[in-house]
Amino acid sequence: MIKTSLRAASVALALMLAPLPVMGAGVEHILIDKQQWPFAGFRGQFDAGQLQRGFQVYQENCSSCHGLKRLSFRNLVQPGGPEFPENSVKSLAAGWPNKITDGPNDKGKMFERPAKLSDPILGPHKNEAEARDAFNGALPPDFSVIAKARGIEPTAPWYTHIFLMMRDIATGYQEGGPDYIYALLTGYKNAPKDFNLSDGMSYNAAFPGHQIAMVPPLAKDNFVKYQDGKGSLEQNAKDVSAFLAWAADPSLNERKRIGWQVMLYLLVTTVLLFLAKKRIWSRIKH
Ligand code: HEC
Repeated sequence: MIKTSLRAASVALALMLAPLPVMGAGVEHILIDKQQWPFAGFRGQFDAGQLQRGFQVYQENCSSCHGLKRLSFRNLVQPGGPEFPENSVKSLAAGWPNKITDGPNDKGKMFERPAKLSDPILGPHKNEAEARDAFNGALPPDFSVIAKARGIEPTAPWYTHIFLMMRDIATGYQEGGPDYIYALLTGYKNAPKDFNLSDGMSYNAAFPGHQIAMVPPLAKDNFVKYQDGKGSLEQNAKDVSAFLAWAADPSLNERKRIGWQVMLYLLVTTVLLFLAKKRIWSRIKH
């Protein structure tokens, strides 16, 4: 009896452990460096200046392929974001090349009109099929939540992951998305000699599989110049990654601020409850 249940238990254990080596095989986990972000950690907040520069990079170098459809132009004005002046965003929206389809009009026809503050920031493609058609089957993903949809995979052995996860929780680390996007934008390299790169693809050190259908959107000698005339590929990459982190989490500043207020409130309540408890129980002899 004991023997059979022991055997059953060992078979069960073997079945549980069997897929582990397979899970790791074939999937290469790429080491992505962590960056310093002003919005990192428990108290970090977005830097409006950086978000403004990041938007400029997005507008000049990414918006010709990638949309931001879950973000409206008015979000660019609101507190906690790039905080552009409302008037300049109004004219930005009116001049945005990708028009809004509205209607039907009096004749029952749909028509195109310039964007308003309340409209989404659209990319150039009407739908996924059109976008894929333009890029040989690859899809330039919408940017609204890309910073949350991507992250960095631990490269350490699997049995350490639980500790790494606990470390991330303890330090409040959640910037894997922007860390990955920065690594991707700065990760274009010449392919190694023995690498089989398909036609029209570029080699990228950070992209899974290392073959990406996106041509390098930022170049060392052709970076986006900011208002002060400065800039660099790394600076552009950092600012646009920060901007995308904000786009995916526009209420981060407010959430962290309220979080601290709630902690303070709970602290005061704890002290009051403790004093009240002492007072009530002081009447009871023991
Ligand atoms: C010429 C069009 C084009 C431009 C301009 C462009 N991209 Fe892309 N991007 C693509 C395509 C196509 C893909 C899909 C690549 C693939 O799946 O191989 C992509 C994918 C991506 C991805 C997702 C990668 C992943 O992990 O799946 C990110 C992030 C990205 N682009 C960021 C940017 C940023 C930031 C800019 C501007 C600095 C930019 N792109 C400009 C075409 C473009």
